[in-house]
Amino acid sequence: MLSYRHSFHAGNFADLLKHIVLTEILEHLIKKDKPFDYIDTHAGAGLYDLQSEHAEKLGEYSNGIAKLKPQDWPSLARYFAAIDACNPNDQLRFYPGSPLIANYFMRPQDKATLYELHPTDFNLLSKNTRTNRRIKVLNQDSLTGLLSLLPPTSRRALILMDPSYEMKSDYDQVFKIIKNAHKKFATGTYALWYPVVERHRIRKLEKLFINSGIRNIQRFELGLEADSAEHGMTSSGMIVINPPWTLFQQMQTLLPKLASTLDAGKGAFSRCDLLVPE
Ligand SMILES: C[S@@+](CC[C@H](N)C(=O)[O-])C[C@H]1O[C@@H](n2cnc3c(N)ncnc32)[C@H](O)[C@@H]1O
Repeated sequence: MLSYRHSFHAGNFADLLKHIVLTEILEHLIKKDKPFDYIDTHAGAGLYDLQSEHAEKLGEYSNGIAKLKPQDWPSLARYFAAIDACNPNDQLRFYPGSPLIANYFMRPQDKATLYELHPTDFNLLSKNTRTNRRIKVLNQDSLTGLLSLLPPTSRRALILMDPSYEMKSDYDQVFKIIKNAHKKFATGTYALWYPVVERHRIRKLEKLFINSGIRNIQRFELGLEADSAEHGMTSSGMIVINPPWTLFQQMQTLLPKLASTLDAGKGAFSRCDLLVPE
């Protein structure tokens, strides 16, 4: 049984990296009128109350979204607009998860499939997305379901994979799923989030991608402190296959500024790497 609940972590520094990359990719997809598919393999609840008992327990958003003043980030205007759309009173009370960020960008021609296994979060997700009939919510294991959706009829898609890595085998499994998905749909954009808790697992994951034969892979990381065996998740990253051509440069500008904004004197850092060229 899964125990991870994203409501304890919503709006933290890892969500910032993930959702900024997500926003940049969605902004690129809507530049063309042609429809796209959004597939979220680990969707969570969709919307999080930052004043809930869960969010307040760890207070992670206070060193995340609460640290960013929208006026200081003109290039992130659409990301803040997606957050504003969930906060009718102009105050930061609710934070959108990946499904509601995608929903903000979707047009009548686009559609989304969201997978969520946890029964409580599945019910919340269904409720939080019920106004958009182009969003399908599945209480199924995405790791067995994803391949059946590929290639999508639109032939343009973003597949976001954001597992909770509760089991160590998840690191190998996500790579296998992406490799198989890429065989069926090589032109899709794949965005995989990972936590840095034990760096050796990420080095291994990185090597798997580098040696996979898949081309055009970038990686972005944002950390609050240097790797450490004792401090839990110190940084997190996104591996993106077939990114928009503008993404690397945008992240090269944004990430160092984000790292210095979030720095609590423990050596926050960022990195952008071209893992495999086009
Ligand atoms: C990190 S959270 C997702 C957060 C969300 N992507 C966001 O950015 O707002 C991971 C979610 O994946 C769900 N999950 C874990 N394994 C899954 C699987 N095999 N299929 C579908 N959902 C899964 C968990 O219940 C959890 O809610």
